[in-house]
Amino acid sequence: MKAEILPTHTPALFAAAVARAAELMSHGEIAALPTETVYGLAGNALDPAAVGRIYAAKGRPASNPVILHVGSLDLAIRSAGGWPLLAERLAAAFWPGPLTLVVPRGPGIPDCVTAGGPTVGIRWPIHPFVPAVVRACGLPLAAPSANLSNRLSPTSADHVFRQLGDRISLIVDGGDCNVGIESTVVDVTGSEPVILRPGMIHSEAIRAAAAGDTVVASSACVETGPARSPGQLPIHYAPRARLQCLTWRDETDLAQQAAALGVNPSRTWLVAYNRIPMSGRWAWVSVIPDDPEAYARGLYGELHRADDAGAEWILVEALPSTPEWAGIVDRLNRASR
Ligand code: TXA
Ligand code: MG
Repeated sequence: MKAEILPTHTPALFAAAVARAAELMSHGEIAALPTETVYGLAGNALDPAAVGRIYAAKGRPASNPVILHVGSLDLAIRSAGGWPLLAERLAAAFWPGPLTLVVPRGPGIPDCVTAGGPTVGIRWPIHPFVPAVVRACGLPLAAPSANLSNRLSPTSADHVFRQLGDRISLIVDGGDCNVGIESTVVDVTGSEPVILRPGMIHSEAIRAAAAGDTVVASSACVETGPARSPGQLPIHYAPRARLQCLTWRDETDLAQQAAALGVNPSRTWLVAYNRIPMSGRWAWVSVIPDDPEAYARGLYGELHRADDAGAEWILVEALPSTPEWAGIVDRLNRASR
């Protein structure tokens, strides 16, 4: 099987792709669909056989719960077994958007979605495709990232095709993902919100919205380390190349650190945003803007390109430790080994 890729760049193509995806979802089939964070591998969340197909295509362990995707607040509340005040506040502030709320599980949600646990993670994406499919088929969709288990998440239809192209029948091309890293996952079942996976909606914004304050977009406050999602492994989101974050004073300092690591510069992909190496010593140098939103949007594409080029090492200029960067720093830490 080779996946068909459906474009969505005109209203007619978008509508046709929605109809096709909705039909597959209604028949228990799966398809890779665009969202603003990363592409998701979607299926009917209420059908254990469809969710099983998602797990099988990814090669994913059943101990990791999947996120339920909706296209309205109403469907989110109906899928939950209670809607805490914190959920109400965070949904009002950030939905639709790159935020997953972990709430008490509703009665109709199968064990394979929650990994048998008492909670369910729910997200309403702001990219219009998945909400349109949900409305067309009337079903919430289970959708983990559309990559093979333990590999890099896809931020383009091409990334999906290269990992899953011979395992699924349909990939909907919604363009490059606008956010670029996976959603912030927040447990709202207790008295305080607990960040299980940091993302581009950062801790200070969550704190302000949870307290009922007006949300400020960015802040210089200090990050308090997040707790971990139960299913998250320490190494995850990893490229094939070895990845290491480094801080360098200048290029001589960088070359010395690289030599100490045993890195061969001619097989090394550098990712910098501030102190940009200029010599011809490095095989590839990517410059990503010194801005968290732009950086997140570009990061996975650079890591995919490094892997495709056959890089042995990826050396990444270490990032600031402020809340706006926390989601990106988390992904880089998971990708290094
Ligand atoms: O941005 C995203 O969230 C993307 C797009 C496709 O929506 N999806 C995604 O799904 O990243 P996945 O399956 O790759 O990651 C889901 C994360 C995992 O870390 C999982 O442990 C956590 O969410 N999660 C899901 N349900 C949970 C629950 N009930 N309790 C705690 N963590 C949960
Ligand atoms: Mg994933």
